[in-house]
Amino acid sequence: MKPKILVTREVFDETLTFLGQHCEVESNQQDAAFDPETLARKLVDKDGVVCCLTDRMDAKLLERCLRLKVVANIAVGYNNIDLAACTARGVMATNTPEVLTDTTADLAFALMLATARRLTEAEAYIRAGQWHGWHLKQMLGVDVHHATLGIIGMGRIGRVIARRAQGFEMRVIYHDPVRLAADIEQRLKATYASKDELLAQADFVILQMPYMPQTHHLIGAAELKKMKPSAILINSTRGGIVDDAALVRALQDGTIRAAGLDTFEGEPKFNPEFLELKNVVLAPHVGSSTEATRRAMAMTAAKNLVAALTGGTPPNLLNPEARKN
Ligand code: DGY
Repeated sequence: MKPKILVTREVFDETLTFLGQHCEVESNQQDAAFDPETLARKLVDKDGVVCCLTDRMDAKLLERCLRLKVVANIAVGYNNIDLAACTARGVMATNTPEVLTDTTADLAFALMLATARRLTEAEAYIRAGQWHGWHLKQMLGVDVHHATLGIIGMGRIGRVIARRAQGFEMRVIYHDPVRLAADIEQRLKATYASKDELLAQADFVILQMPYMPQTHHLIGAAELKKMKPSAILINSTRGGIVDDAALVRALQDGTIRAAGLDTFEGEPKFNPEFLELKNVVLAPHVGSSTEATRRAMAMTAAKNLVAALTGGTPPNLLNPEARKN
């Protein structure tokens, strides 16, 4: 008998075809997230789930889903999953690293360029019919090339951003709880800095770490004050790492110049005051959203799930201890 699984959100045809070869699949192709009660009811008789960062896989849900053996997240970030609760119940949890690294780094760069050169403001202006001719001081932005880029969080994506920055001849400084080996620093032309040094020196600060209790409000009013008034903040990693209310105030009063945001506290809701500001570029959590990458993410999650349910080790297993329980 094939294992029974749930796919919680819309995926690609090839993902469903692959899953159907190995599992009995119930899939939600409406692309509306299940509420927690519906999700729990649907998972009661399932052996596995392919889920997204919009699905909360917490202890309360897991205690009702006694058959569940694997939670395969279609994302590299997994703050929607209570990993400790999964491990305690012997539920394997997996994510989708690697396949989205370049694409997500591209988006961070896109936000940096768009914010520095005021692209969304410029587009709104032209669409509103306000452009009546070239003039010297029109939409003055700041240069990305040769500027100092501060990357906080030097994991896979942070490192690729550092490589992209070399093409723009930027000076790269970084901060991370774990300092890189000297040869990697050299290859990336990246210099280690304390968080305060980085905030004080960077023209652009890019955040690239996972969300967890230790990174909650890593950037708040105090940190924003440490940045240069000319600096730009980019958050394309997770909401909650920045105190959005403090950021709104900093953008309003000129504590920093601008921000480019792909993620928000409490998304998809977000602080409506961002909409009133010209010095912010907003995107709806699309960091990994190219067709090739989203297809690769869905297939990676599917392969993780199938490996877990057919006695193998999922390539992206987050909690190897779960297999022993
Ligand atoms: C991730 O994989 O964590 C991304 O945020 C999803 O787009």
